[in-house]
Amino acid sequence: MGNERGIAVIGSGYVGTVMAACLADLGHRVVGVEINPTKLESLSRGDVPFFEAGLEARLRSGIASGMLSFTDDYELAMAASEIVFLCVDTPPGNNGQDMTSVAAAARSIGRALHEPHIVVTKSTVPVGSGSWLEATIEAEMPSEVDRDALCVVSNPEFLREGSAVEDFLHPDRVVVGGDCQNSVDRVAHVYGRILSQDFEGGDPSSLPVLVKTGRATAETIKYAANAFLATKISFINEIASICEWIDADVAEVARAIGLDSRIGPKFLDAGVGWGGSCFGKDTSALASMAREQGIEPLILDAVKRVNTNQRHSVVRKLQDHLRPLRGRRVGILGLAFKPGTDDTRDAPAITIARSLMEKGAILRASDPMVSSLPEIPDLRIYADPYEAVCEADAIVLLTDWPEFLALDFDKVSDCMRGRVVIDGRNAFDPEVVLGAGMIYEGVGRYATHL
Ligand code: UGA
Repeated sequence: MGNERGIAVIGSGYVGTVMAACLADLGHRVVGVEINPTKLESLSRGDVPFFEAGLEARLRSGIASGMLSFTDDYELAMAASEIVFLCVDTPPGNNGQDMTSVAAAARSIGRALHEPHIVVTKSTVPVGSGSWLEATIEAEMPSEVDRDALCVVSNPEFLREGSAVEDFLHPDRVVVGGDCQNSVDRVAHVYGRILSQDFEGGDPSSLPVLVKTGRATAETIKYAANAFLATKISFINEIASICEWIDADVAEVARAIGLDSRIGPKFLDAGVGWGGSCFGKDTSALASMAREQGIEPLILDAVKRVNTNQRHSVVRKLQDHLRPLRGRRVGILGLAFKPGTDDTRDAPAITIARSLMEKGAILRASDPMVSSLPEIPDLRIYADPYEAVCEADAIVLLTDWPEFLALDFDKVSDCMRGRVVIDGRNAFDPEVVLGAGMIYEGVGRYATHL
């Protein structure tokens, strides 16, 4: 299967690389475009320059079968493709997303566009960017090329880091938005085997829904989905704070409300709050788009404030137990923003570690995948969690890695100086921690665990 001219995927972060490798695996001829020479060299060799479960094997088999290749040459990639997926990074900018990489890629696409192309935005771009992108590409297109040769379609991604391959192959929905029906259909066709789950490991009993819509609506769906998920977490974290004052257990509250099919059980785990490169950036960008239109984003603002408070509540808990923090030793378990990734962008651990250090605490941290944190160069990081908890007055769990959940608390208790365990992910078994003679405090759990 596949198109006569194949597919180009611009940008090789976790979204672009997952797309390129999985589409090649599904029988499309794919060329990945990467302008960073180190990354390009690594990908061409079959090495993924970041951690993403299940990706490297697919990348290597794509390269070996000849269905997947990488280049930094736009002319070559455009000549080999009919559909171009734009997956470059859109980091946080002044008022939302920084579009520098998107603009640079758009200009390069324009200069190399000699035949009809569909350009698909996977990068999360502010609502309305489709028209801007079209104009930016057109401005660079050679004068002899018909302006109708270009159509820009939005196809937002809903991939979680750490399970991006699974999410790509088994999505709940595929959203394709554009104002030209033929192009929307062609992009939807790329997902044909995913929509019918017709591949090894596909699940035909659970077919994804195809949502065809307008371009601005597709762009909005991406922001609304992330903002809603962040809202769900901030909501349960606010309920957790209330639970702490009325002797209720937020985990049981979440389970019971989640049994209501209108609410659903997912993304109701209370803890130190959400992090990562997407939720903070996208809620801020949506809020800023609302403000530009004179709409006060009351819910979005509150979602962010609750999340910030949630991080600081861990510091307050440590302060309450250790009074004062100055000179006290704290062991931090987990730096990545969630398990299964080495990504520390906007990780709760960064805010919490900085605040503890400002208050004079002496920190040692452990994470199975993070060995340095450029934001906090002084932080001592150990691969072995027992090194981080050794001689600590208190320990705090910030990322619920399985390695930490398997800790032997008798051993932990033996090597710690103090007895305080703050469970920022409600992931430890309180009975086990208490059984080792330690003090346990989670997030929104019964005070009787104290
Ligand atoms: C998120 C979305 O889940 C994806 O659908 C989306 O495609 C992606 O952003 C993106 O825009 O690219 P991701 O940032 O990888 O994916 O991480 P999540 O798994 O959603 O977790 C985000 C944060 O929420 C983590 O810090 C996690 O620990 C926290 N979380 C999650 C909770 O605190 N409680 C929960 O119940 C669930």
